[in-house]
Amino acid sequence: MYRLTNKEISDLIHTAFSIRKLSYSPYSKFAVGSALLCDDGEIYGGCNIENSSYPVGICAERTAISKAISSGKRNFKAITIVGGFMDNSNLDYCPPCGMCRQFLSEFCDKDFVIILAKSLNEYKLIGFDDILPFPFS
Ligand code: THU
Repeated sequence: MYRLTNKEISDLIHTAFSIRKLSYSPYSKFAVGSALLCDDGEIYGGCNIENSSYPVGICAERTAISKAISSGKRNFKAITIVGGFMDNSNLDYCPPCGMCRQFLSEFCDKDFVIILAKSLNEYKLIGFDDILPFPFS
């Protein structure tokens, strides 16, 4: 796994929580924020954006990756995901859905780190290999 500094981890978690406030999730009321760290140190945030035609909505992770890719970035070290119901009841770890894991696999190597956070001090780091072994490519 890539080694991350404490500052990188705390900046990622901060960014994910602040962009989560911009989540557009009137249907599920489940607000997700994500923050992607590029190898040049830049961070791109994303939130989930739902749609009245439910399958059209996009997850926070794919929003963040799309922003980074369309800004010309190609190399990434880590992504943070924070999610839970809007009223913040039962905020638990929010692992990425299967579609986001596959979307990530296009751009991430085996050292890529997934950071799941419940708060600034409660988080865990997981290797990409552990959440998507044997990916389609
Ligand atoms: N969601 C994400 O943003 N990321 C995930 O990895 C899982 C699910 C969103 C999609 C939908 O807007 C809401 O959470 C409830 O499923």
